[in-house]
Amino acid sequence: MVASEMTPYAKTGGLADVVQSLPKELVRKGHKVTVALPHYGFVRQQEYVTEIFRDRVSITFGGAMYPCRIKYLKVAKGLTVFFIGNEEFFGKFNWRVGNERRDNMRLYSETEDNMRFLFFTYAVKELLRELAAENTIFDVVHAHDWQAGLLPNVLRKSKDPYLRHMPVVYTLHNLSYQMGGSWWKVPSAKQDTGSNGVPLEMRRVPFINFMRRGILNADIINTVSERYAREILDPEFGQKLEGVLQKRSQDLYGIINGIDYSVHNPLFDGNIVQKFDWNSLNNKLRNKRALQRRCGLTVANDIPLLGMVNRLVEQKGLQLVMETIEVLMKQRLQLVILGEGEKTYRDFFRKVEKKYPKKFALLTPFTNERESRMYAGSDMLLMPSRFEPCGISQLKSLRYGSVPIVHETGGLSDTITNFNPKTGRGNGFVFPAYTRELLLVAITRALETYKYPAAWVHLVWKGMQQSFSWELPAKKYIALYRKAIAKRKRI
Ligand code: GLC
Repeated sequence: MVASEMTPYAKTGGLADVVQSLPKELVRKGHKVTVALPHYGFVRQQEYVTEIFRDRVSITFGGAMYPCRIKYLKVAKGLTVFFIGNEEFFGKFNWRVGNERRDNMRLYSETEDNMRFLFFTYAVKELLRELAAENTIFDVVHAHDWQAGLLPNVLRKSKDPYLRHMPVVYTLHNLSYQMGGSWWKVPSAKQDTGSNGVPLEMRRVPFINFMRRGILNADIINTVSERYAREILDPEFGQKLEGVLQKRSQDLYGIINGIDYSVHNPLFDGNIVQKFDWNSLNNKLRNKRALQRRCGLTVANDIPLLGMVNRLVEQKGLQLVMETIEVLMKQRLQLVILGEGEKTYRDFFRKVEKKYPKKFALLTPFTNERESRMYAGSDMLLMPSRFEPCGISQLKSLRYGSVPIVHETGGLSDTITNFNPKTGRGNGFVFPAYTRELLLVAITRALETYKYPAAWVHLVWKGMQQSFSWELPAKKYIALYRKAIAKRKRI
């Protein structure tokens, strides 16, 4: 498995959780998994005891040679993580690239990422070769998101038949990130069609569209929900990749992500004030009061508390929340937002917090501890994303008894269905189109239902008992791996 993030080493979003928990489940099913990750400077600072695999290998591409140190960590039986190190690309602290200060805690930079992950790609290719020389032969490579998108292309062009015929599954977690920097800012004359060899001349590197090349060269492609797999064939969600995706639609699948319930479970979660499950729902209230107290809100059991847990970026539907906030603040409710991201949103919500200190709070920075406390302490999880490939918060929140209110899109639509008080069916509140009126209707329905404790508890219980474990998704991935292997054999 090749990726740029993996919990607990390096995480900005859901990708990191997937790269941690899918391998774990595959290993449980008797497979062996090796993960390749960049050895970011801050990971080197953490306490993981890594061993040296190769102290110095030379990575050659574009007529230049780069030194690389590869370390590894045996996480469990059958699961090893290799860390790809290079001082220039993943090393130093507080270094400068032009005017940009790249600080060591960040995974990504604005300007240099194509070069960094180009190096990473060639280093992973070298790792595969080195491991093969020691008789570690892989059945399949699974690459994630744009940072690993070039690998299928580089493997296909390899002179080594083992690498050239390597079966590759490529997973798209989010089409808005296709390369380092913003793909939509690339002038059309410089846009990468992906149809020729990897352009290695320095002046062309910043324009390589990694994801487009991943889609064109992988044997099998998938996204992280069935609905998003359909949506991206359409210009509205395809982010200009709909053409190449349509071409590959025979090989395009959707698999919803799972949740690791040994970690995300209010019964075992050490981050929350009082553990609970569906038999001890009353204990959830202690978590609610603790959250209210910590956020400076009015402490009361019966005021509905809505939580939002996501990066503060446009995708997550913050625009709708901004447009409706004044109306919302007139209702009997509380709203807490946890997340990091763009300054515009931060500034806006800081002002709201000043104006309504007893009803609203913005929690930042994001920590795993706060994330757990949000799910455990809130009654409802607000997730009005404009688009959402899968979404993990809504799945975690169900288990913690926080009822999702979501926009009917991508993975949100595959996992959350409207509650019908007459039939008792459904596990949340869904609004069918991305408008503030429909968002308000969904929130109002949730608030009305909340007034009827019997109906509400029924809804909460059902959500808590649902399982979105990795059991089934992992089986589906194994089926895709087998498909990729079979396809290669036919070629
Ligand atoms: C991306 C998507 C999110 C998905 C996650 C893991 O962050 O935006 O919807 O859950 O990847 O696949």
